[in-house]
Amino acid sequence: MSQTVLEIRNVSRSFGPVRALRDIKFDLRRGEIHAIAGENGAGKSTLMNIIDGIIQPDSGEILIDGRAVRVSSPSQAQQLGIGFVHQEIALCPDVSVAENIFMAATNQSNKFLMDTASLKNKARSVLAQLADIDPGILVRELSISNQQLVEIAKALTLDCRILILDEPTAALTEREAQLLFSIMRQLTQQGIAIIYISHRMVEIFENCDRVTVFRDGQCIRTDKVSETTPEEVVNAMVGRKIESLYPPKLRKPAGPPVLQVDGLSDSRFRDISFALRAGEILGVAGLIGAGRSEIMRGICRLEGKASGHVRLHGRDLDLKSYAEAINEGIVYLSEDRKGDGVFLDLSVAVNVSALNLSQVSRSLGLIDKGAEIRLAEAMGRQLSIKTAGVGQKVSALSGGNQQKVALAKLLAVKPKVIFLDEPTRGVDVGAKSEIHKILRDLAEQGVGILVISSELPELIGLCDRVIVIAEGRITGELPAERLSEEAIMQLASNTGWQRRSA
Ligand SMILES: Nc1ncnc2c1ncn2[C@@H]1O[C@H](COP(=O)(O)OP(=O)(O)OP(=O)(O)O)[C@@H](O)[C@H]1O
Ligand SMILES: [Mg+2]
Repeated sequence: MSQTVLEIRNVSRSFGPVRALRDIKFDLRRGEIHAIAGENGAGKSTLMNIIDGIIQPDSGEILIDGRAVRVSSPSQAQQLGIGFVHQEIALCPDVSVAENIFMAATNQSNKFLMDTASLKNKARSVLAQLADIDPGILVRELSISNQQLVEIAKALTLDCRILILDEPTAALTEREAQLLFSIMRQLTQQGIAIIYISHRMVEIFENCDRVTVFRDGQCIRTDKVSETTPEEVVNAMVGRKIESLYPPKLRKPAGPPVLQVDGLSDSRFRDISFALRAGEILGVAGLIGAGRSEIMRGICRLEGKASGHVRLHGRDLDLKSYAEAINEGIVYLSEDRKGDGVFLDLSVAVNVSALNLSQVSRSLGLIDKGAEIRLAEAMGRQLSIKTAGVGQKVSALSGGNQQKVALAKLLAVKPKVIFLDEPTRGVDVGAKSEIHKILRDLAEQGVGILVISSELPELIGLCDRVIVIAEGRITGELPAERLSEEAIMQLASNTGWQRRSA
């Protein structure tokens, strides 16, 4: 018999004029994995923040085991048995992995009774289940995907009964995600109930029991996964039929090279040579840690001092800094949105013009606020960024909309070459296809577009050509007609790399 552990009754919440949640009804059963799907800004994280006591609802009730509760803070949520892995990584970067995990456990109510040594051991063993990460190193040394795993380990040490995972796999590789799913299944066998937020239909349909769809702050439907289809869920999410997921590919041969890279080497990659041609979208595939980001960051001079040659439209470049790269029209969209994608505490408008102050400056370097706002509004329309106005702080936007602001900031420069590192991570299906269409349009206008993605269907659906990196070298190149998950995987690694799906 299924037993309801958590029930949400008619919860509403507004932020000023934004009605983030309207009359939400939702229930979670013991031992189930309940997926929540919905477009960016639909209200998913807001509901989770309410359940975790981070924010309060304007009206409505939360019941745990049939009893109405007021969750006034995250520590109270912890006492009620609620564990929450946030969409955004919130670890202390200058503290060790073990201490980060341990900190969550020491927040628990029985602080005075706890056995420090056993908690530490537990932190270690939970982490070991998930990843090969040295618990002694500082969090700032970890890749984004490993930081994500530490966040998950942190929640798992809490002995919670209700576990909330808000897009936990956005930064994980397929293998890591599979590990997480097997741990989730073990937890459900112990009776733990899991809320699982994801934009990936395959994940939802392979691993979850029920799925609830949010749209515009409302709960549209809840179904057993076995009784619905990905198409139905996507249609309910966007309220319309999504015709084709990817824009058409380049039909003629690509034009002359926009960017040429010759013999680029650094400590982490060797002898990288490729050309990015006008009209094409070039994909870059590889395992996490293969060096994809490092190579692109090296070209843009965001890090390292790579030797080798870079030419832009046939002209030799001798870039010394990222600022010089931007001046030449070469920009990079970081996979780490929070770290170096956007300024969270500043407005959308300030973010969008951050790299292109000349466009919004008057004489003497004064910022023309009107121009800044017009630019942000134009970019916001182009990318369908959902805000309460461009004066809103980026931190108040939903995750996917923050990603769009990061992209808008780069596009505002009118770049000649764009490197995009996991550009649609955390972006909903509809917005994803909008971003793909924008990239295709830019390619048609002659802008060099290079996309790093860990999502193979995205590389295959979007790109005209894909180069594959393994251990800091280019191991092969695949034209559109030879693109397949198997072909990419083979080049990316000889050891059994698993499939990654959208
Ligand atoms: N602190 C806040 N102040 C103002 N508006 C907010 C705040 N938090 C959320 N919102 C708004 O509430 C709406 C719902 O946001 P929420 O983060 O819940 O979306 P989401 O479904 O999690 O989206 P995503 O898939 O992009 O993460 C958005 O319009 C967002 O801008
Ligand atoms: Mg969210």
